[in-house]
Amino acid sequence: MSALNELLGRLDALRRQAEEELAKSDTPEALEAFRIRYLGRSSGALTALMRQLSDLPQEERPAFGKEANLCKQRLQEAFDRKSAAARGPAAGTQATTDITLPGRTGLVGHIHPITRALTEIISLFMTMGFSVTEGPDIENDYYNFEALNMPPYHPARDMHDTFYLTDSYLLRTHTSPVQIRTMESQKPPVSIIATGRVFRRDWDLTHTPMFHQVEGLLVDRGVSMSHLKGVLETFLKAFFGAGTRIRFRPSYFPFTEPSTEVDIGCVFCAGAGCRVCKKTGWLEILGAGMVHPNVLKRVGYDTDAYTGFAFGMGIERLSMLKYNIDDIRLFFENDLRFLRQ
Ligand code: FA5
Repeated sequence: MSALNELLGRLDALRRQAEEELAKSDTPEALEAFRIRYLGRSSGALTALMRQLSDLPQEERPAFGKEANLCKQRLQEAFDRKSAAARGPAAGTQATTDITLPGRTGLVGHIHPITRALTEIISLFMTMGFSVTEGPDIENDYYNFEALNMPPYHPARDMHDTFYLTDSYLLRTHTSPVQIRTMESQKPPVSIIATGRVFRRDWDLTHTPMFHQVEGLLVDRGVSMSHLKGVLETFLKAFFGAGTRIRFRPSYFPFTEPSTEVDIGCVFCAGAGCRVCKKTGWLEILGAGMVHPNVLKRVGYDTDAYTGFAFGMGIERLSMLKYNIDDIRLFFENDLRFLRQ
């Protein structure tokens, strides 16, 4: 027998022996012992046999080398398959999971800017002695208009762009009806704020069909316009900062006399005029005035003894100015990029 044939015979015997042994190796320990014995680089049986290549004549070496490599490759593949099966389906992930990586945290919610502003407004008025109350979103014509000195066909009703539900029920267009409900149930002195949603057919940069108002009402002996001015200025400087530009403008509301509207210097253009303030340099944030005697009489208050002031402000407008938001519609579009800021 030639030296080549003899080596090929030993190679074949080794392969069969290895295959039998691999079939019996079922535990990770047995497999590792198999790997070292047959496939180990320095002392494995296959490596030892391959070293004998140098004993062969030069021309026979390629034939043996090729067979030996093929044998090694097959054994290695069989070994890999068996090892993977022994480790089970999760084995692959075990080795690659880096347990030092930070975990995935759940999304953290944020307080909506309207809620945030509302909370601050309520707290500021409470420190000035006002208590907090509420009224219904669905109102009847009497509370929303008539009791507020707007009888049927009063032209001021047109300013409100009302959503009517029936002939006499509607979505309230302002929080002023809460003035009436409060005075009906309470004798003076009264000092309340009422917060809530109001609805109007409006939609542009500074108007939305649903928005929030805070109503204020103070009725007592000797209440004057200067009290109103003092309360509003104190509130606005606390809310926006001491340097805030505030302007009181004469205005008209059927339920107050005299009436005023209050503007804040536009924060977007520093008063220069821009698309948000419609080139005026000012943004209207609230309406106010001395409660009209007709309103006080209707709830049975003695107008010789008592006077009062009232105001109603838009929370979205206040929030736009405080948080530099140049389009009021962003508050209600539920864009997460906006809400996360
Ligand atoms: C009123 O609603 C009166 N009830 C306010 C009032 C109360 C006056 C008590 C006198 C005494 P007006 O329609 O101007 O007034 O609205 C008040 C504020 O609500 C406005 O200054 C503005 O800040 C805000 N506002 C009005 N319409 C919208 C709208 N469509 N979207 C967002 N904010 C609005």
